[in-house]
Amino acid sequence: MSYYRIVGGRPLEGCLTVQGAKNSVLPILAATLLAPGQSIIRNCPDLSDVSAALDILSLLGCRVDRQGDTVLVDASVLHRWDIPERLMREMRSSVIFLGALLARMGAAELSYPGGCELGPRPIDLHLAALRALGADIREAQGCLCCRGGRGLRGRELCLSIPSVGATENAMLAACGCPGVTTIMGAAREPEIVDLQGFLHSMGAQVSGAGSSVVTVRGGLPLHPGDYGVMGDRIAAVTYLCAAGAAGGRVLTRGVNPECLKSVLSCLEEAGCTVETGPDWAAVECCQPLSGISPVRTAPYPGFPTDAQAILMAALAGGKGTTMFVENIFDNRYRHVDELRRMGADIQVSGRVAVVTGTGRLHGASVRSTDLRGGAALVVAALGAKGETQVSGLNHICRGYDGMERTLAALGADIQKIE
Ligand code: EPZ
Repeated sequence: MSYYRIVGGRPLEGCLTVQGAKNSVLPILAATLLAPGQSIIRNCPDLSDVSAALDILSLLGCRVDRQGDTVLVDASVLHRWDIPERLMREMRSSVIFLGALLARMGAAELSYPGGCELGPRPIDLHLAALRALGADIREAQGCLCCRGGRGLRGRELCLSIPSVGATENAMLAACGCPGVTTIMGAAREPEIVDLQGFLHSMGAQVSGAGSSVVTVRGGLPLHPGDYGVMGDRIAAVTYLCAAGAAGGRVLTRGVNPECLKSVLSCLEEAGCTVETGPDWAAVECCQPLSGISPVRTAPYPGFPTDAQAILMAALAGGKGTTMFVENIFDNRYRHVDELRRMGADIQVSGRVAVVTGTGRLHGASVRSTDLRGGAALVVAALGAKGETQVSGLNHICRGYDGMERTLAALGADIQKIE
């Protein structure tokens, strides 16, 4: 079982170019199914979730090739429309293939994506949207059997929660539905704008991504796309929060700072110096982080739930008190027990967690509980006194491409021990 060995206390210094966005590239890979031919996806990160998505595409019949950070997907011939349970279990966000399979094949079969470390991950909004477009979806023995037949037609949809995945599934299915589909109450995340960009490169007529109303004119012939994935904003804030935890100055390149505003304003309030440019953001920290006003996670452009554990870890080693309210997922404080092993003072009650900075955490042996919880432990370890061992790296490599290499290049004392 491999783990990170981190000796904390060394300030970080340097610039890094952020990896491609995991939460962009996954729906974009699903979108390659919409047209026969070879799509080109550039700036694709090397992540286990991406490998899982490529395995699914291969199983469906696509020819997949990776050349460095460029991935080629040839979806000319698809010889099945079902995703077996073992692959669904590998990555719960595989549900994103549903809409694209329905659009291309008129059918899709996949096992119900299980819950995950964050709690139950319902897909009722996904299914309601696809049924509204005319899909016939039956749920039996944990399997979803979807048939579009020739009944798929564009129409107005309304999401009761701005679900990122449901918005993306509806966009992809709508590309295969003759007529106009309007998705009201759509999620506004930057990754959805990125998916729209890829769909445009395929010749799709999609507009409104980034706002709460997305419109798709479907049923048009599409061709393979050629697109460069945006930088990963959560990876960017991870390394910027690391500077807050360990001290020093880190500059992340390749992400529009507009996407980072809510987190950057927290770091500034906590005492960091923040500078930004067109495609970069820098954070400098030369004293322990102070407590800040309450952090409430919310759909974009609110504070991202994916950054909650990461910012909490940086503040836990500072001074002062901060209240967090996790409004998106039911079980997203699993990293708290591990942070407590490092001396963190965090009180949790339901959706609320109150962090009181201890001045400095101490090293310990800790285990990643989930992707962003694992990243939070690394951030905490970089500022902690002494040595920390972070295990459960299978969670971290789902969303971070070479985290240890990136941090070592910034001067961190971190090694991956096999
Ligand atoms: C996406 O998950 C991201 N994953 C998550 O990132 C991110 O935390 C989340 O959006 C919120 O921003 C990918 O893009 C692959 P949602 P998704 O549907 O689409 C409820 C990471 O760390 N809901 O916006 O699954 C749901 O339970 C991951 O990179 C329903 O009730 O999130 C949650 O409470 C973690 N019914 C809320 O909506 C549904 O049908 C938001 O979920 C769908 C969702």
